[in-house]
This record gives sequence, structure tokens and C-alpha cells, in this order.
Amino acid sequence: SFEPKNIIVTGGCGFIGSNFVHHVVREHPDVHVTVLDKLTYAGNRENIAGLPADRVELVVGDICDAELLDRIVPGHDAIVHYAAESHNDNSIADPEPFLRTNVEGTFRLLEAVRKHGIRYHHVSTDEVYGDLALDDPARFTESTPYKPSSPYSSTKAASDMLVRAWTRTYGLRTTISNCSNNYGPYQHVEKFIPRQITNIIDGVRPKLYGKGENVRDWIHTEDHSSAVWTILTKGRMGETYLIGADGERNNITVLRMIMEMMGEDPDDFDWVRDRPGHDRRYAIDSAKLQTELGWRPAHNDFAEGLKATIEWYRANEAWWRPAKAATEARYKAQGQ
Ligand code: NAD
Ligand code: DAU
Repeated sequence: SFEPKNIIVTGGCGFIGSNFVHHVVREHPDVHVTVLDKLTYAGNRENIAGLPADRVELVVGDICDAELLDRIVPGHDAIVHYAAESHNDNSIADPEPFLRTNVEGTFRLLEAVRKHGIRYHHVSTDEVYGDLALDDPARFTESTPYKPSSPYSSTKAASDMLVRAWTRTYGLRTTISNCSNNYGPYQHVEKFIPRQITNIIDGVRPKLYGKGENVRDWIHTEDHSSAVWTILTKGRMGETYLIGADGERNNITVLRMIMEMMGEDPDDFDWVRDRPGHDRRYAIDSAKLQTELGWRPAHNDFAEGLKATIEWYRANEAWWRPAKAATEARYKAQGQ
């Protein structure tokens, strides 16, 4: 197995990347992390504040900056690439930053990996596979054909393809993971679960798209972190692994769970304009990761994880408050 000692985590000030940095600092005391993050609207240095300075260093910069990569990549033994424009609704309103960060950014990282000969793990999404019908018993596997629906997911699909081509042509040491919907602490208030929790705290009615029937396969972000570490250290080169924890639920069920847990009448929400091209259902079969690499999720009680997440947003209003008004103004302008 591969034992990295000095890794770069791109997007380490975002939701999932920062949870991964916390995970590595806690679970792997001999590893140093360099976070490379541009601190876009979605990045917040508070997400990694308080971690030991001798374990975590923040470099504020753009993954598209080839000169910066040339300066910082030497001396590291792996890049774990989380940085992205990540929100579907934003990609529908303005796709351009998604092309730049998700496609060009991945290209720049691959070129740096090629030049400096280090290990690369690519963090991607189940959305590259498009969607499943609500009544389809099938789930996504590593051999499901790519069929992305949104500007966001099409740029993630493109980035996965670059990784595969660079691996085959230049012999890079890479792995890819495609994970389902994450929840947990430090998730931006634009995303479904934090948006509804913080709306309720603010006395604003939650907003449900379409009929609320769309299904997402929820996984606690801590389980995503342990899975990425497992693939980074034990994954076979050139392979793709799907990450999921059997967490399928439709949106209206999740919303009503949140409302009941927060003491609200579960019918006290607004139906709002549906997302154009809205994917119906995602579902992950993670058998390959479980049988080949022995990974198991640890957070199997969704209700318990949701309660803890609600408590985290109640306790950390100072963290999310600065982003809330602008996020809701953007949604309002879109009728959502
Ligand atoms: P996020 O939007 O919370 O964070 C993205 C981070 O990347 C931010 O810190 C931002 O500042 C940084 N960033 C953006 N552009 C950059 C650039 N050009 N250079 C350097 N840094 C830049 O995203 P997230 O939800 O934490 O998602 C992280 C990754 O995981 C993404 O690649 C996403 O596609 C993937 N993913 C997300 C989910 C999910 O449920 N959210 C599921 C599967 C995969
Ligand atoms: O599947 C993995 C993907 O999950 C990641 O690749 C993305 O980066 C991440 O943003 C997430 O994408 P979704 O589009 O599934 O997540 P989002 O939180 O935006 O929405 C979840 C579901 O809730 C979706 O069906 C749309 C719906 N929704 C969302 C919002 C913000 C609502 O009904 N109301 C809302 O206010």
C-alpha cells in the first residue's frame, strides 16, 4: 500500500475538502497537508482554523495557475483534488466558472502530476452517470455509461475523462472516486439540507423544488473522507471506485425529517420552481470499494447524523450567517 507523508488537498477550505483535512489530521498523525484553495464564495479559511500549524498549511491560490503549481507541487507525494465549482443551480445560471475550474483546473493539475511524477486522486460525483427513474431497481456501478445532465455534472464528467486519458497515455498513477450526496458540518447554505435548516432558524419557510420526489443517496461526509483515504492508500492504479452508503431518500422525506426534528409543522414549507433538467434519482452500488478495499461506512443512522447536523448549524450561526442573505437573494431572483 501507498503511505503518503506530504499531500496537497485542493479545495481544502470547502465543505468536503475541509472535512477530509480534519479527518487526516485526526486519523493520520504522520501526514502533513498543504491546502490549495482559491477561497471563492464557497471556500472559508474558518473551515480549517485551529488545526495544528505544523500539520496543515494553507496556500491561497488557483488550481488553474500553472506557475503556482510548479512552485508548490515538488516535495509532495500526492494530490487529492476536491476543488471545484460544485453547485448545480449556479451552473445553470452561469456555467463559465465551471468550465474553467472543473475542466481547465483538472488539466493543470494533471500536467503538474505528469511533470513531477506524483500520485493523484480525483474526487468526482455520481452525477456523471445522469439519473435513474424513480421506479428503476438499478443502481450506478463503475461500468454505468456517462450521461451528465447539468453544466456542473458535464464539467465533472469531462474532468474524469481527462484523468483517464492522461493515465492511459502518460502512465500517471491515478484513481477516481464518484460519491453520492454528502451531508454534515461546514456545508454551504446554498445546498439543500443546510438551506432548509438555516431557513427554519430564520423563521423562513423551507423551499422544495418540483414535487419533492427526487431521490438522493445521502452519505455522511466523514464516510466520504474515510473512503477517499482508503482509495488513496490502497486503490489500484487507473481504477474508479463508487462511494455510497445506501442512503436513498426522496427530498420531501428529508425535508419533513428536518422540520419535525426542529419542531415545525411538516407541511409548513413552500413548493418552488423546479430546477431545469432536474435529475430524478441517484443510487450508488459501492460493492467494488467494499469487497476490493474493505471499506465500510460508519455513519449508518441518517436520522442521528441529521440531528447532529442540525445541532451543528444551531451552534455555528456565526459561521454561516455571512453567506445567508446573498444566497437567498440569488435563489429569490431565480424564483426558488
Ligand atoms: P464546495 O463548493 O463546498 O467547495 C469547493 C472548494 O473549492 C472551495 O473551498 C473553493 O474555494 C475551492 N475552489 C473553487 N475553485 C477553485 C480554484 N479555481 N482553485 C482553487 N480552489 C478552488 O464543494 P464540495 O461540496 O465540498 O465538493 C468538493 C468536491 O467533491 C467537488 O469536486 C465536488 O464535485 C465533489 N463532490 C461533491 C459532493 C457533494 O455532495 N457536495 C458529492 C460528490 C462529489
Ligand atoms: O450527487 C452528488 C452531488 O450532490 C454533488 O456532485 C454536488 O456537488 C452537490 O451539490 C449535490 O448535488 P445536488 O444537486 O443533488 O444537491 P443540492 O443540495 O443542490 O440539492 C439536493 C436535492 O434537493 C435536489 O434534488 C434539489 C433539491 N432542492 C435543493 C435546494 C437547494 C430543493 O428541493 N430545494 C432547495 O432549496
